[in-house]
Amino acid sequence: MHTLNFPSGISTTQFLAQYWQRQPLYMPAAISGCSSPLSANELAGLACDERIESRIVLQQDGQAPWQVLFGPFDEQQFADLPASHWSLLVQDVDKFVPAAADLLNYFRFIPDWRIDDIMVSYAPRQGSVGPHMDEYDVFLLQVQGQRRWRIENQPRSTDEYIEGLDLRILPSFNADQEWLMSAGDILYLPPGIPHWGIAENDCMTCSIGIRAPQWREMFEHYCQDLAEQCRHTEYYRDTALQPQTCSAEILPQALQQIEQKIGQMAASSALQRMQWFGRYISSEKPGLEITPPQHKLDVATFRQDFEKYSILQRHLGSRIFFSSLENHQISIFANGQAFTLAASERGFVEALSHQRPLHFGFIDTWLENDANLELLNHLFNLGHFYFEST
Ligand code: SIN
Ligand code: CO
Repeated sequence: MHTLNFPSGISTTQFLAQYWQRQPLYMPAAISGCSSPLSANELAGLACDERIESRIVLQQDGQAPWQVLFGPFDEQQFADLPASHWSLLVQDVDKFVPAAADLLNYFRFIPDWRIDDIMVSYAPRQGSVGPHMDEYDVFLLQVQGQRRWRIENQPRSTDEYIEGLDLRILPSFNADQEWLMSAGDILYLPPGIPHWGIAENDCMTCSIGIRAPQWREMFEHYCQDLAEQCRHTEYYRDTALQPQTCSAEILPQALQQIEQKIGQMAASSALQRMQWFGRYISSEKPGLEITPPQHKLDVATFRQDFEKYSILQRHLGSRIFFSSLENHQISIFANGQAFTLAASERGFVEALSHQRPLHFGFIDTWLENDANLELLNHLFNLGHFYFEST
């Protein structure tokens, strides 16, 4: 069904052990019968939508080389573009175009929480974003036309980019390998590998980007979460204040007391830490929040409607993950919120998080458990699921 064709002799397990986050892999004809999930015109249409992050990179016809224009754009801006040497890039296309979201099914050997988005680019002849490297792994999937990719084999650790540009362009680039890629070919790149893909003709490329949170951002979120667990009525108190020779001195005992409190806070259980992580990593990007339906349904009506329509579609922006750390319960994370069910309901949770669409006939016996039905109803009312005909 959705099988990625690795080059002969490489299994998924070998790919993960030998290439993932380690070395580039060119995968010719990785997706059989691959075509673009949307047309160049539809991509331009998305770039006019204010919810969606988009850029146009003009290599030589802007106010300066490598000028970046930021969306949303209008039709006239597209009409004014030169014949060559530019590229349009649109982020998060998988959140808006079902056929793009469908491409993610080829990458299910990577945990869902590691997937960030599909960025789609369109470029006429000679269009590119210049030589650069990315901080995250990426599968570059050619979906239309041809693009010549060149890469350096070794990752670069330095952050040297040409100054004064809105784009990160490497000042030097000495390719070790190159490929001419056509529809269905994939180039996998780990973080830090310098690369440059130049369109040979009208071409479209899907970048399946991997989510790699910055440690800094993650720690900020974790500390914020810890801070929220402290009640506003809790204050520092001295345990055994002693007279001191100079009142300006901060004695080690004061620090010890503070460290003790930090230690107590941080020594949360693995379950609490997972609850934090699940909420954190399932959160959507700002601006891409899912909208709840206008008409919320009570449990009985929801069940009736589900039986009537038989299929629940999943919102493309819904991020549902789960973890079963403790053997008596299972945590479900949905766009930043956490829920709990008994561990015995794992089959239901797997279907809920993984199946798109969700068929009534497949899960109806699970829905006899009130907790399962209530959770699904709640997720429906939050906008994670919808009936096709409403
Ligand atoms: C592109 O699609 O033109 C750029 C993708 C990349 O280099 O990361
Ligand atoms: Co790149």
